[in-house]
Amino acid sequence: MTNQQSTSPQHAPVTVLGLGPMGLALAETLGDHGHATTVWNRTPEKADSLVAKGARRARTVADAVSASPVTILCLKDYTTMYAVLESADDALEGRVLVNLNSGTPNEAHAAVTWATSRGAAYLDGAIMVPPPLVGHPESVFLYSGPQDVFDEHRATLASMGNPRYLGSDPSLAVLYNAALLDLMYATINGFLHATALVGSANVSAATFADLALNWFMPSVVDSTLTEQAPDLDKGNYPGDVGTMEMNLNALEHITRTCVEQGVHSDQPRLMKEIAEQAIADGYGGKNYLAVFEVFKKATQVS
Ligand SMILES: NC(=O)c1ccc[n+]([C@@H]2O[C@H](COP(=O)([O-])OP(=O)(O)OC[C@H]3O[C@@H](n4cnc5c(N)ncnc54)[C@H](OP(=O)(O)O)[C@@H]3O)[C@@H](O)[C@H]2O)c1
Repeated sequence: MTNQQSTSPQHAPVTVLGLGPMGLALAETLGDHGHATTVWNRTPEKADSLVAKGARRARTVADAVSASPVTILCLKDYTTMYAVLESADDALEGRVLVNLNSGTPNEAHAAVTWATSRGAAYLDGAIMVPPPLVGHPESVFLYSGPQDVFDEHRATLASMGNPRYLGSDPSLAVLYNAALLDLMYATINGFLHATALVGSANVSAATFADLALNWFMPSVVDSTLTEQAPDLDKGNYPGDVGTMEMNLNALEHITRTCVEQGVHSDQPRLMKEIAEQAIADGYGGKNYLAVFEVFKKATQVS
């Protein structure tokens, strides 16, 4: 890490507020890329290792924000961000805030209003990798908000990973973040549940993974999801090679197999209920992807 005061776009000064595991990784990486890095954290001693490598520890939030054109926020949540930035007061005027904490679309919209009323430009973002992968050129960071602000500071953002600009709607980054994590948890749960099911017959996870994942990628991801994604946009679910009714039959067998084998059965039962809803909505003769129509509507709470 160096702390030379270079102002080339690739080495622009940058401030990081929040030094949890992720903020520490961001600040260290920015320093390693030659950005003069100023840091602030509620618990100041968490900056010790960064200071030893050349970062500057700001005494106050206002001091930290004033040190750089761009301030990266990596705090616990939006509430924490407001609590921290409140003390910066006039220092926010004319600065760029890049908020990388997790949250919801409504929270991102409210943050724009809050920041612009204090004269700061605001980009919202989401980090799609764990701390050890920060700084790798392929590590995805999502951003949304004003494109001119993103373009102007792209080189700084690129020091942390691969910056992907999603659009001017500031809520897009947290929305994509929630969607990608939804995909991740559902996929991991699907694999773990299936592994528990074959595990009921003493099949090892490694044995099952070898067969299952080599089947899943070409048969499900490539030939179903990738190929048929355009059909989702069109609402086109031809049932000529398999219908929702047929898939409900499969889901019933999965649920009963779980019961017979003595493993948890809520996950397949929920999938069965969703297929039943699709049939009740008139998609019994369509293919399984028509459950997309169920997912697009809010859950009916009785
Ligand atoms: N870690 C990951 O793998 C990962 C991956 C992607 C995204 N993220 C996101 O990155 C953000 C930061 O995550 P993290 O893992 O670094 O740890 P975290 O526990 O979510 O956040 C820790 C940071 O928040 C500060 N903080 C908490 N409450 C505070 C308060 N009341 N006032 C002032 N500061 C407060 C902590 O300060 P102190 O040090 O003083 O406690 C620390 O700087 C989160 O929104 C998280 O969702 C994390």
